[in-house]
Amino acid sequence: MKILVATEKPFAKAAVDGIRQIVEQAGHELLLLEKYTDVNALYAAVAEVDALIVRSDKVTAEVIDAAKNLKIVVRAGAGYDNLNLPACTANNIVAMNTPGQNSNAVAELALGIMVYMSRNSFNPGTGSELKGKKLGIHAYGNVGRLVAKIAKGFNMKVYAFDPFVSAERMKEEGIIAVSSVEELYATCHFISLHIPANEQTRKSIGYALLSGMPKGGCLINTARKEVIHEEEMIKAMEERADLKYGTDIAPENHTLMVEKFGIRYFATPKKMGAETAEANINAGLAAASQIVRFFETGDKTFQVNK
Ligand code: 3PG
Repeated sequence: MKILVATEKPFAKAAVDGIRQIVEQAGHELLLLEKYTDVNALYAAVAEVDALIVRSDKVTAEVIDAAKNLKIVVRAGAGYDNLNLPACTANNIVAMNTPGQNSNAVAELALGIMVYMSRNSFNPGTGSELKGKKLGIHAYGNVGRLVAKIAKGFNMKVYAFDPFVSAERMKEEGIIAVSSVEELYATCHFISLHIPANEQTRKSIGYALLSGMPKGGCLINTARKEVIHEEEMIKAMEERADLKYGTDIAPENHTLMVEKFGIRYFATPKKMGAETAEANINAGLAAASQIVRFFETGDKTFQVNK
């Protein structure tokens, strides 16, 4: 089988070497398309492949249409909002992610941005400590749980809201469960966002939640930009000079927000939550192994289009 790794933002070399080893040991062929700038290069590269590994690369209906032999696509990472699932399903293509594999890298970055924002973006002047502050985890999944664990090392008081996780389980893990998203934002100095981007969550973080945050409230986003209602966020930050936003995914209004909010706003130049050698290796090798198992035994664990 021909297995293509198509990554506009390439994996670390060690990850590509590991993927190659898994693929070739199983008797398959590895093809590589890295740092492509033209979507036509992707259309051409997928033409004859049986399997595809991507990161945040958009697997659109057009990509699926160009990939006549494709049987499986694996998003090496957690969020699969970049995959056109109906198009995969309509073409009998199994779509998977690799949940948990890059979570630690994202969680560490969330805390890093938190420190950066609470120290005035490393500008001279008096900042504040994380110790004793209330942190709200918005979605207590793989990344949220790790952020909570690390934050406890900073002696933060950790709260969480997640309709899919029981309050008992959160309590067992030393987390204070709140019963609504409004309560989470109204309670916590810091919010760390970990919701996926989908129809329910798109533009769901807006004026009401942000303006309800306590004095000095700071939102940290290592999830997706699409979940933010940007116009409403700007309104809330204009009205409240104490609110801050630190994100790993630059908003559409990045330039405007730099101008308006200065050091109250920060975005990484390019999404780097999962940009560690460890995360690349974990997610990349998991993706390759999932594909090999799928071809060998039909194993569909981690399928997301069912
Ligand atoms: C994920 O959903 O796994 C992260 O957002 C990482 O995305 P990336 O592979 O584009 O860095």
